[in-house]
Amino acid sequence: MAMTPSARISVDIAGAPYEVRIAPGLIDQLGVEVRPFLRKDKVAIVTDAHVAVHWRARVDAALGAAGITGVWLILPPGESTKSWVHLAQVVDFLIAQDIERRDRVIALGGGVIGDLTGFAASMVKRGCGFIQVPTTLLAQVDSSVGGKTAINTAAGKNLVGAFHQPALVLADPLTLDTLGPRETRAGYAEVVKYGLIDDADFFAWCETHGTRLIAGDAQARVTAIAHSVAAKARIVAADEKELTGVRALLNLGHTFGHALEAETGFSDRLLHGEGVALGMALAARFSVRMGLMNGQDAGRIAAHLQTVGLPATLAPLGLACDGRRLADHMLHDKKMDAGTLPFLLLRGIGQTFLAKDVDLNVVAAFLDDELVR
Ligand SMILES: NC(=O)c1ccc[n+]([C@@H]2O[C@H](COP(=O)([O-])OP(=O)(O)OC[C@H]3O[C@@H](n4cnc5c(N)ncnc54)[C@H](O)[C@@H]3O)[C@@H](O)[C@H]2O)c1
Ligand SMILES: [Zn+2]
Repeated sequence: MAMTPSARISVDIAGAPYEVRIAPGLIDQLGVEVRPFLRKDKVAIVTDAHVAVHWRARVDAALGAAGITGVWLILPPGESTKSWVHLAQVVDFLIAQDIERRDRVIALGGGVIGDLTGFAASMVKRGCGFIQVPTTLLAQVDSSVGGKTAINTAAGKNLVGAFHQPALVLADPLTLDTLGPRETRAGYAEVVKYGLIDDADFFAWCETHGTRLIAGDAQARVTAIAHSVAAKARIVAADEKELTGVRALLNLGHTFGHALEAETGFSDRLLHGEGVALGMALAARFSVRMGLMNGQDAGRIAAHLQTVGLPATLAPLGLACDGRRLADHMLHDKKMDAGTLPFLLLRGIGQTFLAKDVDLNVVAAFLDDELVR
């Protein structure tokens, strides 16, 4: 019999270390897995309506098998759920459940549910525990690890939040079977990102296995999730609160990507991961334009993204704006620091670095050329 692939990775945050467990079928072991983390035989679970349709019965059965009753809060799906209104709803729900500081609430869902529930947990009773059970590829490889939690406000995305680390992360790649292919591809962009940051061998692995991973291959998924989580864990342990610049490497592709998300109204026109894919291709070509990296490497990056069905050029978006307007979106970036915007550029595949002296006029001119490319 083939061995079931699985992995355990520890995230060594000073004072709050925790484990990420990755295995197909973990969802059916949920009760056994969380039992040691609970002090009562009842647990609060926050999820969204899509996830509840597919996974609520399985989770209830798994909890029941360990003698635990789940009490559910089911929120509407979508980015707009990361709001003040829903934050208040989660907080009120947790208080109504008599959550105490040492209790743990379960966040079952994608990055939206994880970010919102984690933020609510950070403030109830001045901070209670939470367990991440990520159910999108993006959440399994990125958002469930590292302790960034947030909501959006009228002024922008993720502007209000807290650093609050989970007590445990349980990632079951089988839960991705009910996720649409577009969402899976978008999450995969963040996997490729880890290769481009500092791991050329992993980028080469992606070139070989990416298509199979997206199609559903369990072994490829466990390998990619484990590798991504290990990379993120290393970076987060080195710079939990993004103070030294190490954690900023995780923003590769995100400055261009966020500008494009803003221009497309944070809508279905461009999912976050699609913006990141396009942003990484742009960061690579911009690095070539700046004489930092060779054109072959940039071509290889774009080719891989396009092979798996991710965008690598602006034209298909059909934007009716110029490069200046896109560059202006960057002025509102959270990472703006005393009037300058740190940019992540590449010297090659696996050689990302933080450039602090990028002129936004040069970026705007570059984007003008990209818009008609
Ligand atoms: N905290 C961090 O470090 C961090 C990092 C990256 C992104 N994020 C945040 O994550 C969010 C995006 O996360 P996301 O892409 O997971 O989006 P999401 O949570 O909105 O999930 C995407 C869609 O998939 C559905 N879904 C989730 N799991 C499913 C499943 N197993 N089967 C079927 N449908 C399922 C959801 O209902 C939703 O419609 C953004 O708000 C972003 O800001 C946070
Ligand atoms: Zn991202």
